[in-house]
Amino acid sequence: MQRIESTAALRAQVKAWRQQNKTIAFVPTMGNLHRGHLSLVDRAKALADYVIVSVFVNPLQFDDPTDLSAYPRTIEQDIQKLTSVDCDVVFTPTVNVMYPNGMTNHTNVTVPNMDDKLCGLNRPGHFDGVATVVIKLFNMVQADLAVFGEKDYQQLLLIKKMVHDLNFPIDIIGSPTYRERNGLAMSSRNQHLSDDEYDKAAELHKMLLTVKSQLEQGNLSFSEIEQQAMASLADLKFIPDYVDVRRSGDLEKAEKGDKQLRVLVAARLGSTRLIDNIACNLA
Ligand code: PAF
Repeated sequence: MQRIESTAALRAQVKAWRQQNKTIAFVPTMGNLHRGHLSLVDRAKALADYVIVSVFVNPLQFDDPTDLSAYPRTIEQDIQKLTSVDCDVVFTPTVNVMYPNGMTNHTNVTVPNMDDKLCGLNRPGHFDGVATVVIKLFNMVQADLAVFGEKDYQQLLLIKKMVHDLNFPIDIIGSPTYRERNGLAMSSRNQHLSDDEYDKAAELHKMLLTVKSQLEQGNLSFSEIEQQAMASLADLKFIPDYVDVRRSGDLEKAEKGDKQLRVLVAARLGSTRLIDNIACNLA
């Protein structure tokens, strides 16, 4: 696996592959890789001839500077893991390569009707930071397709909308959430959980399964189901930000009669904020 740090060197490699009529898949990450990320690389490998993974901790998407400085930088271990799954290139731009003029005097991308709900409400500026860095990475890498995890479902839809709105020639592929044995969605944040919290965090997925079966039974309204789920999490000493039943295509509030649903949750357990979601397609 090659490690590339400059945009020019990356483009030269991509150009050489293109001249051989090869296809290229891209997996953007912030590093500190776990099995969930590697499952995205596996998916990318199945879909294209070559796979490029970026590792870049993007300052623009952190609303809290303490979170940014505490974010684990583990590039040597990341490289080992990417080598073990036959990744072709790891792209590791520095902050200076990504934002040569700094971050205050920089063009920002805002995706309307996606950044002002759910996690967008709790994390001001976060989704603008994500959209801006992802569009820059797409321009730097110029891949045929990019793979994103469904765990960050709002992020996935935001990127799909941005690509559609801006006519980007890239396919966005959502890949199913990779889970721990106890059902907890894999996340770099799970390492901050104590042993007790790790066990308890499994309740988040169980709650989503309960909500899904309540929706399928159809006896309660969406808001009754949401309120019960919030209360059950609070009983378990989570601090829930939201449990919401949304339309899966655009994340608008679901209404009676909507069939393609996504249930999304964000909750704090101790000092760790966890998110998860589940699809629910009613017949
Ligand atoms: O999901 C992430 O790890 C990040 O938000 C992403 C897409 C790599 C952008 O920095």
